[in-house]
Amino acid sequence: MKLAELKRGLSLPVIGAPMFLASGVDLVVAQCTHGVIGSFPALNARPAEELDRWLTEITERLRRFEAQTGRLAAPFAVNLIVHGSNARLDEDLATIVRHKVPLVITSLAAPDKVVEAVHGYGGMVFHDVIALRHAQKAAASGVDGLILVCAGAGGHGGRLSPFALTAEVRAFFDGAIVIGGAIADGRAVLATQALGADFAYIGTAFLATEESIAAPGHKQMVAESSAAEILYTPMFSGTHGNYLVPSMVAAGVDPQEAALAQPRKMDFGDGKPRPKVWKDIWGAGQGVGQIPAVVPTAQLIERLTREYDAARQALVPEMVL
Ligand SMILES: Cc1cc2nc3c(=O)[nH]c(=O)nc-3n(C[C@H](O)[C@H](O)[C@H](O)COP(=O)(O)O)c2cc1C
Repeated sequence: MKLAELKRGLSLPVIGAPMFLASGVDLVVAQCTHGVIGSFPALNARPAEELDRWLTEITERLRRFEAQTGRLAAPFAVNLIVHGSNARLDEDLATIVRHKVPLVITSLAAPDKVVEAVHGYGGMVFHDVIALRHAQKAAASGVDGLILVCAGAGGHGGRLSPFALTAEVRAFFDGAIVIGGAIADGRAVLATQALGADFAYIGTAFLATEESIAAPGHKQMVAESSAAEILYTPMFSGTHGNYLVPSMVAAGVDPQEAALAQPRKMDFGDGKPRPKVWKDIWGAGQGVGQIPAVVPTAQLIERLTREYDAARQALVPEMVL
């Protein structure tokens, strides 16, 4: 598959980012039928046999949409965590190959065996990175795209500015570039294109939709919070991530202590008596202030499109002059 094919059926240059315990079948179908690439982490489909069922349902619903409307649905993606702690990796990869998933998003380790398997059926692989060194390694494994998870991103986001990282990556990589981190309005989507990216990567804004499977309290907290209530801390998984301060307070964690925590080996439950990351401590990016309410996915994409078009029209005359 070529990049142009991946962009077929899109009404906005956006990939809905995969979110643990938040992205599921309904969100992906809503994203793809409204012109945005939808995605989910394979680990959200539990147990492993569920992944097969999810992929069958998504494919059938998208086919039905195309038959009924005569319009193309956007492609979808599955996220694979390439890490020793992921005992399901081989089984999930085999399921993905069987279903010929158009786009696979890999996280953590360099994805050599995933690239080989996915290219084998004509799919594409995008790898997410927070630093130049990871980008170089992933590029060497032959990925088709790099997702630059920059400062302010929900979950395990990085700390680099997209202005810095995008320029450094573009200097050596000519595949697709995706920028993520605190993108929650159409103007910011347009800004990623100004930086030379092919897609904007949006997580948190899609978390606060009716179709997301996140806990209702998590969605509501996203809608009620602003950027100052996001804390970047390694306290909960060992590695730095952005989380909602009010969820820490509700779980009895002192945010001051979280702010001073030191990174350790990545773990998602090392037996220590601390609140569970994702389940009790809720992840979100700094874009929360642009998300005023929990809405249907269609309504969020309409808003992003309206803002994107308005920003483009406002900029173009100035650019011509
Ligand atoms: C609650 C939550 C869970 C996430 N889980 C995952 C995950 O399982 N795999 C992954 O690659 N990224 C995960 N992310 C990161 C997103 O894929 C993406 O990088 C990020 O949401 C983009 O920034 P934004 O939230 O500011 O839009 C998660 C983000 C959030 C907010």
